[in-house]
Amino acid sequence: DKILLLNGPNLNLLGKREPDVYGSTTLKQLEEKIVSLGESNDAEIVCFQSNHEGEIIDKLQEANEIGVTGIIFNPGAFTHYSYAIRDAIAGIQVPVIEVHISNVHSREAFRHTSVIAPVSVGQIVGLGMFGYELAFQALIKRKKGRE
Ligand code: DQA
Repeated sequence: DKILLLNGPNLNLLGKREPDVYGSTTLKQLEEKIVSLGESNDAEIVCFQSNHEGEIIDKLQEANEIGVTGIIFNPGAFTHYSYAIRDAIAGIQVPVIEVHISNVHSREAFRHTSVIAPVSVGQIVGLGMFGYELAFQALIKRKKGRE
């Protein structure tokens, strides 16, 4: 199994960025954690982070061409308004699980809407970095259920 761990804008600053909201774990630490979780589950984790909408869309399309098992995706602020990313997900066959570190529903009103959620398999919100682990487990379980 190959799984894409995809993080959107500003998530390269994890650990430094608003630590009261997003915690002290860095992106590198998160990626290492998920890679090692993958190793113990026979899954190869491919990590990618970008601040650019088009690069994220390219990566989603590429993951589909390669035929990855699933995508763990934190779209950052693109969550709330990127129809281009939403269309990219709608156009691929790979299951996407949307992850948010913070509880977007307890924050500003603009964060309450996700244009990504309707085209995702599911959404994990407000559980910190653990949300990424849960998304990984969900993708593996989903794949097993379909075998
Ligand atoms: C976020 C929530 C978004 O509203 C915000 O723009 C982010 C991070 C989260 O993980 O909680 O960049 O996706």
